[in-house]
Amino acid sequence: MESSLQLKELPETYNDQVVRLFILAAAVWGVGGTALGVLAASQLAWPVLNFDISWLTFSRIRPNHTFAIIFAFGGSALMGTCYYVVQRTCHTRLAFGKLATFTFWGWQTAVFLALATIPFGITQSKEYAEPEWPIDILIAVVWVSFGVVFFGTLARRRIQHIYVANWYYAAFIVAVGLLHIVNNLVLPVTLTKSYPIYSGAVDAMVQWWYGHNAVAFFLTAGFLGMMYYFVPRQAQQPLWSYRFSIVNFWALISVYMWAGSHHLIYTSLPDWVQSVGMVFSIILLVPSLGSAANGLLTFNGSWDKLRTDPAVKFMVVALVFYAASTFEGSMLAIKSANALSHYTDWTVAHVHSGAIGWVAMITIGSVYAMAPRALGRPMHSVAAMNLHFWMHIIGLLMYVVAMWISGITAGKMWFATDTNGQLVYSFMESLRAMHPYYVIRFLGGTLVMGGMMVMAWNLWHTAAQARANLITPIPIPVPVPEPDQVPPPLTVGGL
Ligand code: HEM
Ligand code: HEM
Repeated sequence: MESSLQLKELPETYNDQVVRLFILAAAVWGVGGTALGVLAASQLAWPVLNFDISWLTFSRIRPNHTFAIIFAFGGSALMGTCYYVVQRTCHTRLAFGKLATFTFWGWQTAVFLALATIPFGITQSKEYAEPEWPIDILIAVVWVSFGVVFFGTLARRRIQHIYVANWYYAAFIVAVGLLHIVNNLVLPVTLTKSYPIYSGAVDAMVQWWYGHNAVAFFLTAGFLGMMYYFVPRQAQQPLWSYRFSIVNFWALISVYMWAGSHHLIYTSLPDWVQSVGMVFSIILLVPSLGSAANGLLTFNGSWDKLRTDPAVKFMVVALVFYAASTFEGSMLAIKSANALSHYTDWTVAHVHSGAIGWVAMITIGSVYAMAPRALGRPMHSVAAMNLHFWMHIIGLLMYVVAMWISGITAGKMWFATDTNGQLVYSFMESLRAMHPYYVIRFLGGTLVMGGMMVMAWNLWHTAAQARANLITPIPIPVPVPEPDQVPPPLTVGGL
């Protein structure tokens, strides 16, 4: 494998300036978003930390946490890696360079405005779609520009084949644009207040069609795009099965859209719509486990890298958590299981095993793989990367296990009745039972946040060294395929 690769430096071939900006932003928002999560977790453990200040209460901090971590951290990482990947897999420079720079500043402005207004009650009160209409318009403009840059780059590719990572990024861009526009159709009454054009159960269904598919196309398809490029790159192996990745792609995007009603089980939504959501959620298990297996099997033959390469450690654990959280999701969509889990911390455990386990870990692994190449320097400290790994994994396990126990305990207590049909426990008693687990979640979250700080520090020093050595960059060995075997991850193994 090594012998067939040329070692070349790729200094000015690609537009990596915008990639570097997005990496930096992702690192900063990673710290900010988890800090807000830690604050929200501490408020649930110790309510006095709400300080009786309206903009600091849990109800305002929680949506700020979700918006910051999903859209500011996740969005920056997705856009940065997308620009990095599409250039390499299409062997061409990013189209519309100035528009790409606009997408960076536009996105940062939009998320900043959202985070600055939500705590003051300026919100549509729709989960994951909180910002009011002027910010939504800005988001739509930035998103369309992002699409123009991405598809423009695809259009000028110098090789015929479109690598599978780009299919996932394309689905992510098209679907998220569609979801954002349809769910935010509102009648503005003032600059800071609007009303949705939908009402009642229809509004709920549209919102959860959005909310669910935001998970599907933002938190899953986009990050699978990342995985399909960076895993073979870091494993220095072809993808286990290229054909299988394409089959999984079509299966995933055709099934996901129909599963959204599993968020509204036992609500006023028609029962058959709930059942459709349940059935499609179970079918979804197949392409989900398929992608996880494809990623993991790609490491066959290079498992030794687990000992030496921290980026690989993050990627392997991310894939294990992708498999685990999707398996759990399919089980939670079964009506009888959902009766116990819904409204409890079991949902929160599922969310964070997907979010801190899959989303954050594949992002961190990819950033550690990409940053040295985009900055032209090795990472400042490998020890710090290893420290980050252990802080993240211990924090993640503390968080998820605590929330599983808390959720199942609360669900069982709420269901318990005596022989007269009376509830055995009061709500206060269930809250008291949950309290120790809230403290453990806070401690686990603090570790995850600490890890993000270590990453930001490490990236900062790497970037500072890169700047100091602008005139004589140290060549990073980047494997560049020979023209007759492009691109290497396309080689079909397995199936
Ligand atoms: C096969 C894949 C998956 C299925 C079938 C699935 C299913 C579910 C179900 C049944 C719920 C609980 C709904 C409720 O009772 O309210 C849920 C919630 C959630 N899941 Fe998943 N899930 C999957 C994968 C993922 C992944 C990979 C993530 C990534 C982070 C994720 C993020 C979420 C979020 C954020 C919620 C909470 C939504 C909310 O109530 O705000 N899911 N999922
Ligand atoms: C330091 C790590 C983190 C901490 C301490 C933390 C804490 C929290 C807390 C306390 C909540 C509110 C739970 C509730 O309402 O009962 C929450 C919700 C949520 N967090 Fe995090 N979080 C962390 C990391 C993340 C990451 C990395 C992501 C995504 C990439 C994420 C996505 C979400 C989502 C989607 C929800 C809403 C869940 C739901 O509606 O069921 N969090 N988080």
